[in-house]
Amino acid sequence: MAVKGERDEGIDGRGDGDRGGDRDEGTTDVRVKHLIIARTFKMTDTSVDLSGKSSAAMRKPYSTQHDVLLEDDLESKNPFKLFHIWFEGIKNCGKVYEPNAVCLATSDINGRPSARMVLLKAYGNEGFTIFTNYESRKGQEMIENPKASLLFYWDVFNRQVRIEGTVEKVSEAESVEYYGCRPRASQISARISQQSRAVESRDKMLEIYKQEELKYPTQVPKPDFWGGFRIIPDAFEFWSGQTNRLHDRIRFFRADSVEKVDGKLTKLGEEGWAYQRLQP
Ligand SMILES: Cc1cc2nc3c(=O)[nH]c(=O)nc-3n(C[C@H](O)[C@H](O)[C@H](O)COP(=O)(O)O)c2cc1C
Repeated sequence: MAVKGERDEGIDGRGDGDRGGDRDEGTTDVRVKHLIIARTFKMTDTSVDLSGKSSAAMRKPYSTQHDVLLEDDLESKNPFKLFHIWFEGIKNCGKVYEPNAVCLATSDINGRPSARMVLLKAYGNEGFTIFTNYESRKGQEMIENPKASLLFYWDVFNRQVRIEGTVEKVSEAESVEYYGCRPRASQISARISQQSRAVESRDKMLEIYKQEELKYPTQVPKPDFWGGFRIIPDAFEFWSGQTNRLHDRIRFFRADSVEKVDGKLTKLGEEGWAYQRLQP
């Protein structure tokens, strides 16, 4: 299932989606706010307490009692189907700028974790697909240690979904197909960015970008170092936030990965999945 119609980042960082204009205004606003903060910032203000009374305004109410997530109300007990139902709802509500923005966590062979946002480009029974530079930090980590975790958080719904699984590269044909439908600017950016490696300046990148633009006046070929990864889930967790912090957590895993499905702590789901309610 391809995730369509979302922003695709370009070298100017503004995205190519039709909501880019709104995003720009927002960015200018944030810059002004940052300048004000920078001017009033004292070097003694090095520690910021977000837990005390002064920050009580940050404590938001979550769902009402009507939104509790009960096992019997789950639209499906196959986590792929449940994810699809949640995702469609979020996508269609019109309140989430990038519903497919997801935090991808990887780790190197020594177990040092790293996380960053990416855009989910497709999902289905075969897994969850993202595209990136294979030589980037995340790319290298997923190649040397093919395990990853995805985390979606949609605050307007007070919902999060965690996914864990193994990683494989998508086929070259699939990467070529997706690359081919990206905007030209994104294609050129992907070609010239040695993602995750240092560069002397932004101007240097722009210089290389312009040279690459001239080199490929029509079709921009996909570089070998760029393509997709698919995360094949073996566990999902669906989380729904509650104001009293008695949050709902339903974790799904393959039924054959546990010793017994006792019907009490561990229940049988659908299509080979089992699930448990976890304490918040
Ligand atoms: C909302 C959002 C979406 C992003 N989508 C992607 C993406 O799909 N692919 C990608 O390589 N980087 C994407 N990025 C940039 C990454 O977060 C990250 O900066 C970059 O991939 C380098 O990560 P790495 O050095 O850990 O490999 C996105 C950033 C944001 C904030």
